[in-house]
Amino acid sequence: MDPVLYDAIFRRKSVRKYRMDSLSPDAIEDISRYASALEPLCPEIDVQFEFAEHGEIVNLLPVKSPHYILIFSERKDNYLYNAGFLGQQMDLYLSAKGVGSCWLGLAKPQEQIVKGRDGLDFTIMLGFGEAAEPLHRDDVSQFKRKPMSQICFVEGEGAEELLEPVRLAPSAVNGQPWCFYGTLSELHVGREKLSPVRYPIFNRLNQIDVGIALCHLVLSAEHMGKVVKSEFFDSEKAKPPPGYNYVVTAYIE
Ligand SMILES: Cc1cc2nc3c(=O)[nH]c(=O)nc-3n(C[C@H](O)[C@H](O)[C@H](O)COP(=O)(O)O)c2cc1C
Repeated sequence: MDPVLYDAIFRRKSVRKYRMDSLSPDAIEDISRYASALEPLCPEIDVQFEFAEHGEIVNLLPVKSPHYILIFSERKDNYLYNAGFLGQQMDLYLSAKGVGSCWLGLAKPQEQIVKGRDGLDFTIMLGFGEAAEPLHRDDVSQFKRKPMSQICFVEGEGAEELLEPVRLAPSAVNGQPWCFYGTLSELHVGREKLSPVRYPIFNRLNQIDVGIALCHLVLSAEHMGKVVKSEFFDSEKAKPPPGYNYVVTAYIE
């Protein structure tokens, strides 16, 4: 994965105020080219990125940006994890390029954009554009995140170094619904169990969140000179901590 993205992990933030001027055609072309060459989590899943402008999007929440990246995906197993993994590479790339961005979990494209996408379904979008508020954090202390002790149950030494960039990953309503257990070479990822009340909204968003965390995990491991291979198993590879379901195992060498 592009190492430029690693540095962005420690500075990025969601940008919710934008100048509404369009970015230059060259900037859009660069972003579009980058989107077409991202590393997928699940290469067997067909995904397309589409670009939209303000006016083509319906968002109930008051975040307005001049541009949007829409992720359309085949609905195969794990497609939401894959969408989070891909979209987070864009979030980090935009931040690294000095462009503001924000995941928008509840925004929807207008009907005419959704039609005729080769059978791919609209999955999630990010808004982006020139920031009209600070674009970066100056220090890791400015991230509001759970402490490592709440998300890391990995046996042995060294997990904190690997997982610190993962701890900083963004998530819907900052829920951080992930945990990590197993060992450093066979690392299992868990996702918070949801109450029936939260399930209808957060079952979808939390899978995207875990895909985002996996993107940060790969960047962190590669930064440490390691290689990651992720495998989704049908049944639990190891018993997750109470309150979590097993999602995926990352083999890290
Ligand atoms: C899947 C997903 C959906 C999100 N949806 C929204 C949204 O609809 N509106 C919004 O303002 N922020 C949204 N966010 C941004 C989160 O609120 C934000 O990432 C989190 O609070 C952490 O803050 P940070 O990104 O500034 O580090 C979303 C984030 C994710 C990962």
